[in-house]
Amino acid sequence: MFTASDSLRTAAMDALPGQFGARILEEMDIAYSDGLARDMAPLYERVKSVIPSVEWPFFAPYIKAINELKKEKNAVILAHNYQTPEIFHCIADVVGDSLQLAIEASQAEGDVIVQCGVHFMAETSKLLCPEKTVLMPDMGAGCSLAESITAQDVRALREAYPGVPIVTYVNTSAAVKAESDVCCTSSNAVKIVNGLGKSGAERVLCIPDEYLAQNIAREADVEVIAWKGRCEVHELFTAEELQQYREDDPGLKIIAHPECKPDVLDEADFSGSTSAMIKWVSDNQPERVMMVTECSMSDNIAVENPQVNFVRPCNLCPHMKQITLPKVLEAMVLNRTEITVDAAVADKARAAVERMIELSK
Ligand code: 13P
Ligand code: SF4
Repeated sequence: MFTASDSLRTAAMDALPGQFGARILEEMDIAYSDGLARDMAPLYERVKSVIPSVEWPFFAPYIKAINELKKEKNAVILAHNYQTPEIFHCIADVVGDSLQLAIEASQAEGDVIVQCGVHFMAETSKLLCPEKTVLMPDMGAGCSLAESITAQDVRALREAYPGVPIVTYVNTSAAVKAESDVCCTSSNAVKIVNGLGKSGAERVLCIPDEYLAQNIAREADVEVIAWKGRCEVHELFTAEELQQYREDDPGLKIIAHPECKPDVLDEADFSGSTSAMIKWVSDNQPERVMMVTECSMSDNIAVENPQVNFVRPCNLCPHMKQITLPKVLEAMVLNRTEITVDAAVADKARAAVERMIELSK
């Protein structure tokens, strides 16, 4: 069982995440060598179309170390579809969209969950697995939607709209979820809103994503009231740029995430959650496709879809990109940063997430 030296632990205590990855590799006695390159050649063969050979000698020792530690620590790595290919393809045990990760978290084996994604995802895992250690490799990985609303805002909405059910996107803090009736993701939002309609609601509050709420409203049987949050990545795409791409390349297929503005979705051939977008590409095998979403998605699925050409006017999520291999290694060795949620908040937030999982079956 590998244990980091006391001097490394002390030094790492006050350092920024990721500063001590190389020193941990040294202590584990793992370095890039001909032998390691040979051992890891089958894995590299699979990802070579999306990881340049010049980067592999840097990534390979981390991948080996992390995969060894996973077994030692009985840990499972959950990675969102926006993680970079070396995380998505080389260390993750489970990959998926927010709903899939929440479901997998609720069923996760092992003692430790390492969340490769953003903070709200790690909190959701902790809500659903209170007995497990949930580690977040960089606590700075936030989300503009999660930051757009507080629990106090939700309480104010409840007062302003008495009796109106509150459906909260999972891209929110546990404290916000705790004030909500039910959560949703982009893959089940319409189903959940219409389900509330069938149970008698005439209006539903969909928070905090303004555009997602507008997109849900188009398919909903009830009135949808929105908040003013936005995803800083998806709000950058415009209908005009998509029209330009189509004009330049009439055979191009365009698929977009529902966090984009409604007029952007109007230009798309398909819209859905990150996993629904991946499924669409794999089912339809378009000659050329543009995924109107975060950059890493195209890289990640290019590996399984070698016939498809990806046109990439993507935008990077700076939060998702905070997670790197050195930070994941540090998280596993130093047991940091452990996610905790106040018990009273956790009980209420868990109920909203579990209701979502139940209603989306
Ligand atoms: P998905 O649930 O579709 O994976 O979306 C999560 C997210 O953060 C999109 O920006
Ligand atoms: Fe949040 Fe947007 Fe990043 Fe997703 S892509 S984590 S919604 S900021």
